[in-house]
Amino acid sequence: MQGLDPTKLPRHVAIIMDGNGRWARARGLPRTAGHKAGVERVRDVVRAAREFGLEYVTLYAFSSENWSRPKEEVSDLMRLLKLFIRRDLDELHSENVRIRVIGCRETVQSDIRALLDEAEERTRRNTGPNLQIAFNYGARDEIVRAAQKIAKEVAEGRLSPDAVTEERIEAALDTAGIPDPDLVIRTSGEQRLSNFLLWQAAYAELVFVPCLWPDFDRAQLRAALEEYGRRDRRFGAVSPPGLAVGS
Ligand code: FPP
Repeated sequence: MQGLDPTKLPRHVAIIMDGNGRWARARGLPRTAGHKAGVERVRDVVRAAREFGLEYVTLYAFSSENWSRPKEEVSDLMRLLKLFIRRDLDELHSENVRIRVIGCRETVQSDIRALLDEAEERTRRNTGPNLQIAFNYGARDEIVRAAQKIAKEVAEGRLSPDAVTEERIEAALDTAGIPDPDLVIRTSGEQRLSNFLLWQAAYAELVFVPCLWPDFDRAQLRAALEEYGRRDRRFGAVSPPGLAVGS
């Protein structure tokens, strides 16, 4: 396999891992089997991302809306997440991976919160690659929490309303200090963002992959990175002369 062009690689890839349930159903298996297979993909993709030289990977592991799933499925997902952190934290740490968790942690059960805190704390000094796990995450909720922090500072006279800039809002988001995603990948053929990184993905390239998450492997990741490399990113400006004009 030929190497990827490092000058055309995204710095930050965010992934909506969709299709675990359909993958299981197609095999006559319970949905949990799909999530279990999905965790194996998480391992492979994190490894591949490191090998490809990606600096930041963000995975949508559990949304703030996922609580409305059947109780057994929610507890299976919690169990899988705990297992992943318990089993993989040592290896990720030894590979210098820095883990950060985005999402609302206050309402999360205490044993999971402790594990998430531990994963962040142990890897805090690692210099990368950076793995963000979006857990109990919803972009609107994140923006509301950021707005509340800022409103409090304004109300207490510590911040002037004029100082509420894009930078100040970014600094109040869960992703403070993390560059915006350049590429958002969603598996399973669905073509929507589902409340994922709505602020941060303002200029992200979107790649929708038809395969279900448990079938997403390093070759699929590579193909998505190559697709990204062919995109012409303009951030609202115009293409330089001689380049094809996109939409
Ligand atoms: C979407 O598939 C997937 C999820 C809601 C959970 C994703 C979680 C994992 C892959 C495992 C835990 C994550 C980590 C980081 C260890 P779906 O159930 O909505 O599938 P469907 O649309 O086919 O029903």
